[in-house]
Amino acid sequence: MPSYCNLHLSTARLDLRPLAVGDEDGLFAIHSDPEFMRYWSSPPWTTVEQAIKLIERDNREMLDGQHIRLGIFYRGENHLIGTCSLFKIDEQCRRAELGYGIARDYWRKGFMSEAVPAVIEYGFAVMGLNRLEADIDPRNTASCKSLEKLGFVREGYLRERWIVADEISDSALYGLLSRDWHNKHTSVP
Ligand SMILES: CC(C)(COP(=O)(O)OP(=O)(O)OC[C@H]1O[C@@H](n2cnc3c(N)ncnc32)[C@H](O)[C@@H]1OP(=O)(O)O)[C@@H](O)C(=O)NCCC(=O)NCCS
Repeated sequence: MPSYCNLHLSTARLDLRPLAVGDEDGLFAIHSDPEFMRYWSSPPWTTVEQAIKLIERDNREMLDGQHIRLGIFYRGENHLIGTCSLFKIDEQCRRAELGYGIARDYWRKGFMSEAVPAVIEYGFAVMGLNRLEADIDPRNTASCKSLEKLGFVREGYLRERWIVADEISDSALYGLLSRDWHNKHTSVP
């Protein structure tokens, strides 16, 4: 498995890089916001230790090539505005699951639509993945719209799949195939 510890991606406004010591306060600020965490797979964080542990775990697991999580930074500033990850990477089936989040102050400014395609392109073009999946709460309109805008197709619906802080919720399963991504992004001369 390759190491993803040195992976850096960039877009017009954003730099994406692995989280490091020093990013814990920014990460905690994002994940302690109940509105941001409304449809997340865990309750809002309560201590900065949770951020420190996640960064330490990322350092180990990205070194082993087990997953990718990149912090999203406003270009030129060391200010964390979100994260994007590829996890449950299955080498044989060439698929992975996609996760993402943008801090509330930065919603609806096109940052998800700018950052996530860079990670998708890396997954398909560099890692050679064939398929990306996303498992989201169907009530999360922002996430549904964002995925559909990128070309993800809603392929399934699983009832009562999650229990987070005693709240039971369903899953909408989305998928994107490499060939569909490339057909959409190959410009016709
Ligand atoms: C989902 C999320 C990442 C979207 O990020 P964003 O940077 O605000 O998204 P963008 O500005 O790139 O918008 C993408 C599309 O979604 C639509 N959209 C975004 N927020 C929306 C909302 N609250 N309601 C309806 N549509 C919304 C936008 O209109 C846009 O489509 P358009 O360009 O055709 O108008 C952000 O809301 C978020 O981080 N939420 C909390 C964390 C989360 O739920 N993550 C996903 C769970 S797995």
